[in-house]
Amino acid sequence: MVCQVPPPSAMVSYSLLFLLASSVSLGVLCQEPETQAIDSKSGKACCKALRNELPPSVGVFARGTPEYNARHQTYYSLQQQELFPTCTVKPNSASDVSRVLQIAKAHKCPFAVASGGHMSWKGSSNIDGGVVIDLRALNQIDISAKDQTVKLGPGSPWINVYAALAPFNISTTGARNNFVGVGGFLAGGGITFESVNKGFGANSVFNYEVVLANGSIVSVNKDTNADLFWALKLAGSNFGVITQYEMTTFPQPVIWGAVSAYPITNQSTSDLLGAFETYGHDDTNTDYFQSVAYASAGGVDVFSVVQGTLDGVPQGPLTSVEPISHSELVGSTHDVINQVIQGALAPTARAHWYTFTTKIDKQFFQDMRTRADNIFAPLNNRDGLTVVVGFQALQKSFIAKSAGSPVFNALSQANDDLVFVLLLVTWDDPADELVMRNATNALGAWGEAEAQRRGLLSQFVYLNYANEEQRIYERAVTKEDLDRLRSVQKSYDPSGTFTKLWRGGYKIPPVGYHGAETSTGVQEERNGSTARDAQSDEL
Ligand SMILES: Cc1cc2nc3c(=O)[nH]c(=O)nc-3n(C[C@H](O)[C@H](O)[C@H](O)COP(=O)(O)OP(=O)(O)OC[C@H]3O[C@@H](n4cnc5c(N)ncnc54)[C@H](O)[C@@H]3O)c2cc1C
Ligand SMILES: *[C@@H]1O[C@H](CO)[C@@H](O)[C@H](O)[C@H]1NC(C)=O
Ligand SMILES: *[C@@H]1O[C@H](CO)[C@@H](O)[C@H](O)[C@H]1NC(C)=O
Ligand SMILES: *[C@@H]1O[C@H](CO)[C@@H](O)[C@H](O)[C@H]1NC(C)=O
Ligand SMILES: *[C@@H]1O[C@H](CO)[C@@H](O)[C@H](O)[C@H]1NC(C)=O
Ligand SMILES: *[C@@H]1O[C@H](CO)[C@@H](O)[C@H](O)[C@H]1NC(C)=O
Repeated sequence: MVCQVPPPSAMVSYSLLFLLASSVSLGVLCQEPETQAIDSKSGKACCKALRNELPPSVGVFARGTPEYNARHQTYYSLQQQELFPTCTVKPNSASDVSRVLQIAKAHKCPFAVASGGHMSWKGSSNIDGGVVIDLRALNQIDISAKDQTVKLGPGSPWINVYAALAPFNISTTGARNNFVGVGGFLAGGGITFESVNKGFGANSVFNYEVVLANGSIVSVNKDTNADLFWALKLAGSNFGVITQYEMTTFPQPVIWGAVSAYPITNQSTSDLLGAFETYGHDDTNTDYFQSVAYASAGGVDVFSVVQGTLDGVPQGPLTSVEPISHSELVGSTHDVINQVIQGALAPTARAHWYTFTTKIDKQFFQDMRTRADNIFAPLNNRDGLTVVVGFQALQKSFIAKSAGSPVFNALSQANDDLVFVLLLVTWDDPADELVMRNATNALGAWGEAEAQRRGLLSQFVYLNYANEEQRIYERAVTKEDLDRLRSVQKSYDPSGTFTKLWRGGYKIPPVGYHGAETSTGVQEERNGSTARDAQSDEL
């Protein structure tokens, strides 16, 4: 039995929409551990080896220590906070990371790697027993205003990056949330306000510093280790621990950002989905961002709309319907995210996510909402239930800018403007885990099957929004590109160290392909089992 008093930051959890913000006291959380704990002896032996073999400057922290707790509290999902590593280790440099990996390898220590801790699923960047490599101390933000570049450690939350860039009136392609980490965001792609003309966040990375499986520290760019440079744009947890991302910046003194909530009426539906369709197909757009989501919490259903302009020019409302709430600001990216956007997202929650990708289709979006209502109606009495069905554009121009990354060929196949569909469900009671997973997965499976039937489905699954049961490498890249990723993996980690020891994240499957030609992606009824458990057996 694991009982945990939630950290102070989790005591008050705001609902997904700040207008619906309600304080929820979570009390003490008690639950049987669900995932296989790693043999605690191996965890202890590993932590002991790390203590003995690392220089004293590299902290190794046991459960209950302030550093360990601070790491723990960064995890976005409460499910991740229910896993307890035997210790965390906090390297200060790439060479520390190299030493840690060599010790882990020598002692066959299972480990997870955590930057911002915002991947949603249990075990994605945390581990029960074993070791968490905590990258928070690798938080450098070195700006070269002259070269218009910035060197970022993986351990900073994006809000710190924007704060550092603001005085120079520049920005870069980061997350739209305060606490998402540089490391995971860029290792999975990264959807940003600038994506319509800059692609994924990772497309602005022109040099990586990476610690490989054998402990060597390498520079990776279009000229050196070029095959790995391509692969790292969809790195997952396969190729190495990235210790520095070098990115281009661009002048951006101020942006405009707005978050609005509207009642769901025929008028708002027609206006907002119409505006989203127009935006999603607008191939002249280079500086405007817009997303729309159905959100339901505490019996209140709304449209949640985010708008942004990169030149700082405010835009009018997208519907004649009066908003229930509205907040907007012209300011630095830092101020807009911190003051306007951040409030629209839950900081910490018991959550299950699901994502898929479709063409733009207003009727399908409405039908997703109807289906969500039907599936979740029996659960409306569950504490803290929020259901979000969100739509974000993946225009042809966005796809074009992803050239040079593993996802490009897969995304280009549709030759159309696409949409990321994100299902995001949160609730309070740990006992509701299975029923919520089941309902979310049922909605996702229905959405994929229905989109397929209507000729709308793209096979693409976005790594950073997926849950642990979703196939990434079998659906986000073509068969040829999957084989290419496998050969890159073989040349940089020939003995499979990361496959065996690095837990969490998304792994390149050793064989098989289930992409566009062979699968609807929904052959299986998903039951809420943890698909990643299979991985744990490999040690
Ligand atoms: C509130 C919220 C808002 C979000 N907003 C956005 C958004 O605007 N756009 C978007 O695209 N996504 C967004 N996301 C999703 C987010 O991009 C992913 O969850 C991302 O993985 C988080 O990165 P992290 O460093 O915080 O995660 P972590 O959980 O620390 O890491 C995620 C994965 O990356 C691996 N990893 C971390 N650091 C490294 C490294 N240095 N080298 C190699 N592997 C590493 C980890 O092992 C793990 O598998 C959001 C998520 C939340 C919860
Ligand atoms: C940034 O922009 C502000 C407002 O336009 C200006 O006052 C300031 O000098 C600029 N800073 C730099 C470093 O260019
Ligand atoms: C909204 O549209 C539906 C279907 O077109 C119609 O049945 C319904 O009466 C309309 N509702 C309102 C409030 O106008
Ligand atoms: C799972 O969800 C489906 C679809 O809503 C529902 O029919 C089924 O009863 C659910 N099963 C459980 C165990 O909740
Ligand atoms: C480490 O691995 C890389 C990639 O496989 C290889 O080029 C390098 O020579 C290896 N270094 C050592 C010290 O074995
Ligand atoms: C889902 O659960 C049911 C009932 O427990 C089981 O019969 C079925 O095999 C499961 N399906 C999968 C894919 O695990």
